[in-house]
Amino acid sequence: MRSHYCADLDIENIGEIVEVCGWVNSHRDHGGVIFIDLRDKSGLVQLVCDPEDSVTAHDMASHIRDEFVLKIKGTVRARGEGLENPRLKTGKIEIVVDELIVENTSETVPFVIGDNNVGEEVRLKYRYLDLRNPKSYEIFKLRSKATIAVRNSLDKQGFLEVETPILTKSTPEGARDYLVPSRVHNGEFYALPQSPQLFKQLLMCAGFDRYFQVAKCFRDEDLRADRQPEFTQIDIEMSFCNQEDVMKVTENLLKACGHEICTPFNRIRFKDAMEKYGSDKPDLRYDLSMIDVIDVFANCKNEIFSNIAKDTKKNRIKALKVPNGDNIFSKRQMQGFEDYVRKFGASGLGYFQMKEEGLKGPLAKFFEEEDLQRIITAADLHVGDAIFFGAGDKKLVLDYMGRFRIYLAEMMDIIPKDVFEFVWVVDFEMFEVENGRVKALHHPFTMPKDIDNTPIDEMESIAYDVVLNGTELGGGSIRIHKKDIQQKVFNLLGISDEEAHEKFEFLLDALKFGAPPHGGLAIGLDRLMMLITKSESIRDVIAFPKTQKAQCILTRAPSPVENEQLRDLGIRLREKTK
Ligand code: AMO
Repeated sequence: MRSHYCADLDIENIGEIVEVCGWVNSHRDHGGVIFIDLRDKSGLVQLVCDPEDSVTAHDMASHIRDEFVLKIKGTVRARGEGLENPRLKTGKIEIVVDELIVENTSETVPFVIGDNNVGEEVRLKYRYLDLRNPKSYEIFKLRSKATIAVRNSLDKQGFLEVETPILTKSTPEGARDYLVPSRVHNGEFYALPQSPQLFKQLLMCAGFDRYFQVAKCFRDEDLRADRQPEFTQIDIEMSFCNQEDVMKVTENLLKACGHEICTPFNRIRFKDAMEKYGSDKPDLRYDLSMIDVIDVFANCKNEIFSNIAKDTKKNRIKALKVPNGDNIFSKRQMQGFEDYVRKFGASGLGYFQMKEEGLKGPLAKFFEEEDLQRIITAADLHVGDAIFFGAGDKKLVLDYMGRFRIYLAEMMDIIPKDVFEFVWVVDFEMFEVENGRVKALHHPFTMPKDIDNTPIDEMESIAYDVVLNGTELGGGSIRIHKKDIQQKVFNLLGISDEEAHEKFEFLLDALKFGAPPHGGLAIGLDRLMMLITKSESIRDVIAFPKTQKAQCILTRAPSPVENEQLRDLGIRLREKTK
């Protein structure tokens, strides 16, 4: 229907007769001449409907409204002197319309296309209108290009794209499953895959050697700005590989996404990431790391601190030093920081200001001069600096001081916006022990480093995460490929032999028949696109996303179903609990 896309026209088309199609972005009547900004996926072009050129076209144009769908034929001409619009790609030209066809009308739209001040709920209800915004189109164009580039990169590296089932059995990735009731087998359920983890391992047992998939995954978990119940992974698995091989493939595929990325990425041990940044996904775009000062307080005269400092296994005393902080923050702000960390379970936040005459602050009077001197030396404090302390239970302190680090950085506006800081977090702990319950830190199929000779709370695994600007982009591991080790891990996780057999018989079987050493990783494609496009929410890079409450406002899913459907499935609903 068209000879050109709107924004592809330029001064070299002047004098040409062209046909373009699109939506009325805006229109205005200037003394009998109607100007229309016509929009398609490429952008805008200005149309001029002058009765002197075509009475019929002008007549038609006088009835149009925003978002009407037009097809026009006209001649490209240069805009008059002083009438060029430098903000528009096609700002030097316009089309004088000879023929105008209204392909469709539009009711008044609930919001102006591209208006950023519209509530998300309305935007999601009319998502197709929201997506008419050229900014969205650019995001999805980038996503499409990146996905194709990833496919090509993996194809070149010898990977085979294989689809794995959506109606399947539970894969333990740590979230709740989405269940699908079976009509044929009443009372039985499929689980939607939280990831293709076990199938990709089976493909290695099948000898496929290198697998990938742009895979849909489903997890019923609390949603956040970087989490959706339904999301996409670039999922890979390789045989006869070590951690280095997987990392190299991953770096190559991230590079293929078209951004200037320096490889190899830096690496940090899980333990060091936790101790220095209080997070297993540290944002390394800025400095500001935590200083371990527990030893400094070991012999101090303040009983609270010296008692905490006695147990260096269970407790931590961490400091964040802000050079020149005493001049940056007011006293009130410093006191306010305490309220921030309290939200995350801190009982308080100590701080000192480094003055000409020494360390000052509400806590100073509780310490002897020599204690203060030790703090100055340990943290290398200079006049004007501020230093903040968190003390207490290790897990708690690392968590709130890690959050406080980010809070401070945001507050001081020291986070560079245009930097992509990738880092590998390596040497994860194998298990997490909480209230006596043992959980796999990655998943139960991850290879432990030395299962026979390390206590459970010190055991490390061959697992690695790739982190970008403080967001976990992907994670993976070398897998257990021997049945006895897999069984030992299940046992340590409190999964009995019967339960393991019931849930993972197929995997344990596969490990019996010559499973090769293998490993892999999965990158969250939505998260990757969110970061590349600098979007605030993962929803911006998903065409039809769900809300924070896991609803699709557009289609109104989830929704009740007919009683007959439930009867077929052998399901009776309980009364809703109030
Ligand atoms: P993991 O659970 O770490 O590993 O997931 C890998 C990556 O998937 C993305 N991701 C999500 N993205 C959006 N919304 C979610 N709810 C969500 N959950 C996870 C993240 C994450 O880093 N089977 C293993 C991979 C492996 O070991 O090969 C797995 O799924 O970017």
